[in-house]
Amino acid sequence: GRPQVTSVGGLGGLESSLRLDESLQHFWFPVEFSASLKPDTLIPIELFNVPWVLFRDKDGRASCVADECAHRACPLSLGKVVDGEVECAYHGWTFDRQGACNRMPSTPFCKGVGVRALKCEEVDGFVWVWPGEGEPQVEVPKHMHPPPGYKIHADLVLEVPVEHGLLVENMLDMAHTPFTHSPAAKAIPDIVRFKTNGPLGGNWDPYPIDMSFEAPCITLSNIGLAKPGQVERQPRAGDECPKHLWQMHVCLPAKEGHTRLLYRIAFDFTPWLSAIPVIGSLWTQKANQVRSCPG
Ligand code: FES
Ligand SMILES: [Fe+2]
Repeated sequence: GRPQVTSVGGLGGLESSLRLDESLQHFWFPVEFSASLKPDTLIPIELFNVPWVLFRDKDGRASCVADECAHRACPLSLGKVVDGEVECAYHGWTFDRQGACNRMPSTPFCKGVGVRALKCEEVDGFVWVWPGEGEPQVEVPKHMHPPPGYKIHADLVLEVPVEHGLLVENMLDMAHTPFTHSPAAKAIPDIVRFKTNGPLGGNWDPYPIDMSFEAPCITLSNIGLAKPGQVERQPRAGDECPKHLWQMHVCLPAKEGHTRLLYRIAFDFTPWLSAIPVIGSLWTQKANQVRSCPG
């Protein structure tokens, strides 16, 4: 049969989006749900092959510095938050929101030492960072909420062992669904809107799926449902689906061959418990499909 694709990138393979034009870094990236970042939590993340750590400063502001101590390169995420600064677990040096080292208990203090810090903001319940060089030229996108009347059912963060570009393309390539997946799932979107900026339009027609993509990593989709858990199979013209499932996928280019996925699901009805997909296994399955077949 067909040889298995075991890796992406590298010689003769798919070019990693992490090695493409660095203008891909000139965007705000929503890297974590605000609610997960408590006053004393350190959250390690990877973005464009670089390890970072998220924490809150003394005033509660979300902050992001390199996850590598300026002293002996110990990951700062192994330390703890002390008075709004990250304290390294190895020799206790501390770093503030700007990445400046303010305490060196292991040695006489030496001025001007620090680690790189990213511009970091908190908008709409997400922690956003700007990994690019220089000042951000655009504002943080502000449309990460489901439409009014929807209730958020789950927020999940998953590490998916699939290249960012490949995963985004697969997500937008809905035409593969009836061929690769269950033949019962005949829902191919009539419209996929591509956006680089600006708020999401208010027109969610036509059913059953409307998708919107905001480069380089955010996909929003709204799926009309006839019954909880079942995609509408009736003719679509004039079809008014009574219930909807709204999803947000944020595919963050973490490192080569790996995507950090932020997933949010919301409903405009109360779903039956049994109708809710087991998201974790769904994604493991998806990752394997993307890696081992055309879609
Ligand atoms: S490695 Fe961080 S304080 Fe020494
Ligand atoms: Fe698929």
